[in-house]
Amino acid sequence: MTQNSKPSGPGKLTKRFAETFPRSAELWERARAVFPSGITHDARIMLPFPIYIEKAKGAHKWDGEGHQFIDYWVGHGGLILGHGHPKVEAAVNHQLGRGTHYGACHELEIAWGEMVLDLVPSAQRVRFTSSGTEATLMALRLARSFTGREKMIKFEGHFHGWHDNVLMGVFPPYETPISPGLLEGVVDSCLLAPPNDIETVERLLTENNDIACVILEPSGAAYGTIPGREGFLQELRELTLKHGVLLVFDEVVTGFRLARGGAQELYGVIPDITSLAKILAGGLPGGAVCGRQDIMELLEFKLESDWNRFKKIYHPGTFNANPLSASAGVAALTEVKEGDHIEKAAETGHSLRRKLNEVIDDQGVSWCVYGQSSIFHVLMNHQCPKRGKCDYSDCDYDYKALKNSAGLDLIFELRCGMMLGGVDMPGPGGWISSAHEDADMEKTARAFGETLSVLKEEGKAV
Ligand SMILES: Cc1ncc(COP(=O)(O)O)c(C=O)c1O
Repeated sequence: MTQNSKPSGPGKLTKRFAETFPRSAELWERARAVFPSGITHDARIMLPFPIYIEKAKGAHKWDGEGHQFIDYWVGHGGLILGHGHPKVEAAVNHQLGRGTHYGACHELEIAWGEMVLDLVPSAQRVRFTSSGTEATLMALRLARSFTGREKMIKFEGHFHGWHDNVLMGVFPPYETPISPGLLEGVVDSCLLAPPNDIETVERLLTENNDIACVILEPSGAAYGTIPGREGFLQELRELTLKHGVLLVFDEVVTGFRLARGGAQELYGVIPDITSLAKILAGGLPGGAVCGRQDIMELLEFKLESDWNRFKKIYHPGTFNANPLSASAGVAALTEVKEGDHIEKAAETGHSLRRKLNEVIDDQGVSWCVYGQSSIFHVLMNHQCPKRGKCDYSDCDYDYKALKNSAGLDLIFELRCGMMLGGVDMPGPGGWISSAHEDADMEKTARAFGETLSVLKEEGKAV
């Protein structure tokens, strides 16, 4: 038996959770008659039931019974300013009174696009979408259309949304697509490489002359759950240039978080195409694809050739750059650009990771909290000899053990324990905003300590 298969199943924390949040239990019963599994996003699956939130402000949110939680979801990573930042709220309220959808071009969309061009180093042109999934879908179509080739290289563990092209190799075992219902040809068009493995990418590029692009999360898989190796992005840039293949950075999470211009600014590597979402739209729905002008031109109507109607890349989308999302996006990006939100959230992230690792040391369990900037990950019951005393960008622990290694049962127990202590995290890790304060870190460390000691007692944390 490995350390990761210690006793599981509902324990003390789950039972106490069920007793403490009866209103959420009731709501979930109602929801199960409406939605598959009672939820509207797979990541919200939670046993014994999910918590139902009624309001949020800053770094906190509250359920209908008045329980307060420190929030490490912060809008699935979209709210780096925290919930209800006054400038974003004012901009959205102002726009609400002026209309939410004009079915027409409007000045705010230009201002929003100009901000993307200003902040993101690779962005020469931009096109807004309604989500990150749509952004990567368009990025791949642009790459295929520009190169006239069909295949792509994707890395194991990396996540790019839920359209058919990108559902291969997301969770272990990486050999299996993570969903049924995919077209065989689409599955076959995705070539997988282990993360950080430049030799495999080189071999795939040499053996296949029909590869359009390489796509990756530049932080490493799942916003750094499997950290990117130092120098890997540079190696990938050189190799893709050598083979005439496009490089796509999926900066849906890292954009406007790791630096104002995202990971490409932080690491000084310029991709051909970038997908964006989350912080881009200030907590409202929105995404974008941006990149080299000669690639983005494929979206252009050309007057001289019957508007090249069936040659240009087709791109409608009812809510693309809708005024409400644009108003939130402009306000949020202005704050990100001019304020110190990225730095403050990163400092808090550093302090949180340090505090949680101190708790782990006190408890003497083989867990570890790691991550970069305003992101943290909890590795449970691992067998890494460095036990968290490593340099993040130098992580050489088995990548297959880094992502989803603990199993859902233990993740649910961890989340129950943390929520009982007033903390909501989206699994083993989360995102930090500039609204999180020292007192939140202290409370999180206390909740983590109390949770760990119960899990240890039950033999689930070792
Ligand atoms: C790296 C990455 N790409 C794409 C997506 C998909 O974005 P959305 O949920 O807006 O469709 C996500 C979502 O979390 C993501 O983390």
